[in-house]
Amino acid sequence: MFRQYSQPAPVIYGCGAIQILGEKIKELGCKKVLCVYDSGIEKAGIIDKAIASIKAAGIDYALFGGVVSDPSDEVVDKGGAVALREKIDCVAGIGGGSSMDAAKAISILIHNPGPARTYIQAKPITVNTKAPVILVPTSAGTGSEVTKVAVISRPDKNAKWSVFINTTLAIVDPELTVTLPKFETVNTGLDAFSHAAEAMTCINWNPHSDLVGEAAIRKITANLLIAYNEPDNLEARSEMALAANWAGLAFNDPITHVGHAVADAFSCHFHTPHGLNCALALPETMALVAPAMPERMAIIANAMGLIVKGNESGAELGRMVADGVRGLMRLMNMKSLEAMGYTREKVLSLAPDVMSNHLASYCPVQITEDVAHGLLGRVYDTYR
Ligand SMILES: [Fe+2]
Repeated sequence: MFRQYSQPAPVIYGCGAIQILGEKIKELGCKKVLCVYDSGIEKAGIIDKAIASIKAAGIDYALFGGVVSDPSDEVVDKGGAVALREKIDCVAGIGGGSSMDAAKAISILIHNPGPARTYIQAKPITVNTKAPVILVPTSAGTGSEVTKVAVISRPDKNAKWSVFINTTLAIVDPELTVTLPKFETVNTGLDAFSHAAEAMTCINWNPHSDLVGEAAIRKITANLLIAYNEPDNLEARSEMALAANWAGLAFNDPITHVGHAVADAFSCHFHTPHGLNCALALPETMALVAPAMPERMAIIANAMGLIVKGNESGAELGRMVADGVRGLMRLMNMKSLEAMGYTREKVLSLAPDVMSNHLASYCPVQITEDVAHGLLGRVYDTYR
């Protein structure tokens, strides 16, 4: 079997890196950029920093601040209309995964006819876009700045689907993450953990995803709790920014698997944050796949700093990793599904959604209805 790995775009990393956004747009030969973001990024003053850099480089700009969590194809259409009206030739997505994914999808509409839903299908298609896309993450989680994936909600289908798009440049500035609220720090940090761990246990794993995934898990385990307890700790924030970026690189080719299929079902039905959903699904996802991939689970356990003797079974390794993740979740006061008011029956009813998600097909364990049912039940029962 051949294995594929790639890097979608170069990355510029370092504190204060947002200052060179305008300069980089100029180097690309672009004249007018559309900044895509949400209200939280505007309130945090991050858009002002971006605009200052763009103006200093003598680049014209237009703004689309209408991104919301889990943006829909309608949001993409609205952003696309602004892009066409303003005759922009470049897109900058500034924010978390929602803003970056919206920016990617909006770039399609600059040279392709709408509506956006044409391109956002249950089985993702690749669209070769022409307008440069620059991505500036403001959380340490999604890794969307280094993936081809744009996840967009299709409310008409009650689903989150994806489209694969070219990106041009990522600017990772850890200083932008210090204003991240505590709950977003933990949610996004464990989203990054999920990306690394699911990439490493995906049927399409590759040597590159192993390398950066393991390193990302090592950094997240060492720094997430510090970033949570000390939001101004720039060293921990910097390590987390790098870890999230590497976790993004880890899943760019393999993609994720059933943990994210569970998370997408929670997003569609409960409208809870993506990172929280991924974290809730993560421990039992690892326990599910561990017997099929014991060597890989031992690498994950080692990266978490757990003591691995070498004679553990896959199931034991899976339990160790699952307990370790749940311990971290408890230390950071993450709520359980029960505490948020969701019943076990409601959670179990999502089994068909999990099964039908294309991500489930990348899991090393076949996701039948029984398996999905059992997984959802354990996700509910084991973290309370
Ligand atoms: Fe994710």
